[in-house]
Amino acid sequence: MQPRSHINQDMTSQRPHDIIARAAASDKIRILFVCLGNICRSPAAQGVMQQIIDSRGLTEKYLLDSCGFYGGHAGELPDKRMRVHAARRGYKLDHRSRTIRTWDFESFDIIVAMDDRNFQDLMEIAPSAEDQRKIVRMIDFQRHHPCQDCVPDPYYGGAEGFELVLDLLEDACSGMIDEIEGNRT
Ligand code: 4NP
Repeated sequence: MQPRSHINQDMTSQRPHDIIARAAASDKIRILFVCLGNICRSPAAQGVMQQIIDSRGLTEKYLLDSCGFYGGHAGELPDKRMRVHAARRGYKLDHRSRTIRTWDFESFDIIVAMDDRNFQDLMEIAPSAEDQRKIVRMIDFQRHHPCQDCVPDPYYGGAEGFELVLDLLEDACSGMIDEIEGNRT
């Protein structure tokens, strides 16, 4: 696929902190989490973030959703392994998998990629440069896992991969909420 002319190919020029500051000005902040299959990482991110938001009394201020690029699991609950590991930490994951739609860029303020492939795919399908500026990487909000450069796909691995995903998501989601709320006026 030829890159579209508006596409910003320089991923290092994305500034997550500017995106967060802009979104924080909204009354209701809409966040979309994106991975490949929408059955492991992004529905877990949605569940972890929802619990953080609820526990801080911010339920009415946020709207969360998740989706993926691959439609092979559309309509399914999250992967059983992801649900089991999440449930052990108190998260109930009941999202149904769906693929990303062009109008998601209009419907959400912040679009969160789990890894660099998700990030690049989002940059390619974003309808405008303004929409591209909504895209951030989940890992950029971590505070306790400096050696990790993405939320790695656990699908073909073992239990430790699912635990790592949850560790990273708990760290990065709380980092993101702290940053958004810290920017509220
Ligand atoms: P996710 O993991 O992107 O974190 O939901 C995957 C789920 C399914 C597949 C790949 C990754 N798959 O190839 O079916």
